[in-house]
Amino acid sequence: MARKRWANVNALYQIYPRSFMDSNDDGVGDLRGVIDRLAYIKSGEKSLGIDAIWFSPFYPSPQADMGYDVSEYCDINPMFGSLDDFRELIEKAHASGIKVMVDFVPNHTSDQHPWFLESQSSRDNDKSDFYTWRDARADGSPPNNWLSIFGGSAWQWNESRQQYYLHTFLKEQPDLNWDNPAVRQEMKRVLKFWLDLGVDGFRADAVRWISKDPHQRDDLLAAHCPDEQSVRSFDDLQHKYSRFWENLFPYLRELTDVVASYDDRIMIFEDYPDGNYGTQEQYLGFYGVNPDVSMPFNFEGLGAKFSAESFSTMVNEFQGMINPDIHTPVYCFSNHDQARIATRYGGTEQARLVALMQLTLPGLPVVYYGDEIGMTNAPIQFDEIQDKSVFSHGNDESVGRDPERTPMQWTGEKNAGFSQVKPWLPVDPISKKVNVDVEQHDPDSFFALYQRLLKLRSQYEILRMGEYEPIGDAGDDIFAYARWIGKEQHVFVALNFSKETRRVTLPHAGFILCSTHPVDYPAIGANGVVTLRPYEGVLVECSEHRLQRDN
Ligand code: GLC
Repeated sequence: MARKRWANVNALYQIYPRSFMDSNDDGVGDLRGVIDRLAYIKSGEKSLGIDAIWFSPFYPSPQADMGYDVSEYCDINPMFGSLDDFRELIEKAHASGIKVMVDFVPNHTSDQHPWFLESQSSRDNDKSDFYTWRDARADGSPPNNWLSIFGGSAWQWNESRQQYYLHTFLKEQPDLNWDNPAVRQEMKRVLKFWLDLGVDGFRADAVRWISKDPHQRDDLLAAHCPDEQSVRSFDDLQHKYSRFWENLFPYLRELTDVVASYDDRIMIFEDYPDGNYGTQEQYLGFYGVNPDVSMPFNFEGLGAKFSAESFSTMVNEFQGMINPDIHTPVYCFSNHDQARIATRYGGTEQARLVALMQLTLPGLPVVYYGDEIGMTNAPIQFDEIQDKSVFSHGNDESVGRDPERTPMQWTGEKNAGFSQVKPWLPVDPISKKVNVDVEQHDPDSFFALYQRLLKLRSQYEILRMGEYEPIGDAGDDIFAYARWIGKEQHVFVALNFSKETRRVTLPHAGFILCSTHPVDYPAIGANGVVTLRPYEGVLVECSEHRLQRDN
């Protein structure tokens, strides 16, 4: 059966450190705030009950890309606390049975990182080849047509070196040169530093970009784009040469070998579905790196239409493509770059259904802070925007990624109980109703649903590790599947994606373990027929194959 590492972990909870809890009232979240809320995460009486947390970057950084521009890999940004705070956090988290994952940003540093400052100072210094430098073309223009994801050319002119440097993201985020063995050595040293401190894993950021064509050939025009003059945005090119090159998996293997040399540590790769590559090639490539230790996120649900057909196709194709004995699925439906689930899928009832699906599918699901109480994308006015990528996109319509990054809604009081002072991003006014405090006291709340599902996922190995099998003909608008271990244990899941009531036929009768309405479960007939309310989902224990609880 799959997954030897992190075998009992029910799910992973993403904490955006700026927005989780502010302990020192400066308007920005911090590590001490997280320490204070470990009881909410797992150990307390009314806790969410989730077994692992992942921190978006908390390293020293000028915050051009909110910490994804690292200026020192082995320290904590004072705005979040200190290394001693982090040591205390790890110790207390471990004492409560919570694993701790950190973000690892391998593709680029900040332009304020000492490596870059040295590298740009001359063409002949210790770090001169740590980044990708090239001369201008004869007319002074950038060396090739590669584009930055955040808009414009991926090349930035540097006066002191009289050369261009490559940046796939903001110009404040120069790409490291991974073909330089000294860079790879340094990055492995960084991993060891955090592993020695006791972290249990890494989420590796934007990995596809670490290997590029060494000849830096021009990327190709996208099919819809007639000529170079029509290239306006990132999607007007096919990014054949600027990423996903042949050393990608060997380089990732070097990293995961370091992780593998420590007990029970893992690495999750960030990589989005990409029309330029077959998804199968992508997934199997990433799983192939080191299946015992590492796995890619599955982000396909982000683009899925809210329908039984689209979700069942996505899940069934993915489950059919991987080898469930060695590959761990990591289903992820929201994060700090993407709309929250209650916004993306059209409402809180729909989001409850997605939650029940996510927490009953195999693998290691990832929950974004606040999604467990049904937070929605918050309204952000133009003059409140903090996400700089908005401006380099040159798109006045967009407010970027701030709406999904607003402060955690702890209470209905001032600043949602996040801080005594005005927070770095506005608190969503919806926090008066949608908050932890209210929901912890409501047995039918969003939070109560997550709590129930996470508890079941901890108690029953079948939900974490059991086999997956689609149930073909359960009914219109229904996505249904079975999870099983051997011949002995079976559960069924039926999800109604319609806004109407739907009749579902399960393979057997059974007992409801959880419904998207946690206080009021529907009845199942002796023939396995159950009537689901609009957007209702159920997890059913089969009456002939009862479950064994393992903790
Ligand atoms: C990843 C991060 C995103 C960041 C980018 C550059 O996609 O999730 O927030 O802007 O990488 O590091």
